[in-house]
Amino acid sequence: MKFDVLTIFPDLLKSPLQEGIIRRAVRDEKIEIEIHNIRDFALDKHAMTDDRPFGGGEGMVMKPEPIAAALRHVHTLAPDAHVILLSPQGRLFSQEVAGELAQLDHLVLLCGRYEGVDERIRAGFVDEEISIGNYVLTGGELAALILIDAITRLIPGVLGCADSAENDTFSQGLLKHPQFTRPRVFDSVKVPDVLLSGDHKAIFEWRFAASVRQTLQKRPELLEHVNFNKSEIKILKKYGVDKELLMHS
Ligand code: ADE
Repeated sequence: MKFDVLTIFPDLLKSPLQEGIIRRAVRDEKIEIEIHNIRDFALDKHAMTDDRPFGGGEGMVMKPEPIAAALRHVHTLAPDAHVILLSPQGRLFSQEVAGELAQLDHLVLLCGRYEGVDERIRAGFVDEEISIGNYVLTGGELAALILIDAITRLIPGVLGCADSAENDTFSQGLLKHPQFTRPRVFDSVKVPDVLLSGDHKAIFEWRFAASVRQTLQKRPELLEHVNFNKSEIKILKKYGVDKELLMHS
């Protein structure tokens, strides 16, 4: 997967991409990230990237020419790249959208700033707009980082354990079960016995029931679209999760 990021604040992106799993994914050539400074494509001697809105009003708008030149530069090298504008008006980002985008080979992430980008860029150069949530950021850079992070960890070979991403919170429509590590007793609270039992079937069942309980308690709306089969319902009954489930069946 190649990510090209277009921004007027390249430094905002650099350091988070040099840590942990993302750094390793770049090192292992699972992903490639290129950050382009839109200012480098500005035409005038002051390298202006924004201007006042026609029609008046608050704030500034990102000028079309530098963005178009930056996009054309990337496009010449990769005509099939999928161009995403990060904006609060876009399709809401989710685990499902991350999975969809992880199938593509090349993403161009255009980070908007100020009051937005000139409409002719959005209409003429952008394949889709994506928002990371129903709130307004000062720009698309943090949103671009979130996309890169969530997409990269879905690329085969990026996570150490082959099935880590498959067992994620959300990947089955459920929140992840609680996790424990050493010590066995902390603040007088014991790790559940079943997790120390070495009985893989029992552990799987406990985790499944704990996932469903956690989802019911914290994000019940996620269960509206989940149908449990007979053996799953049996496990849930065994762990006393059936009563709550009845509310949703
Ligand atoms: N730019 C400003 N707010 C944003 C949001 N919520 N998502 C993506 N890009 C943005």
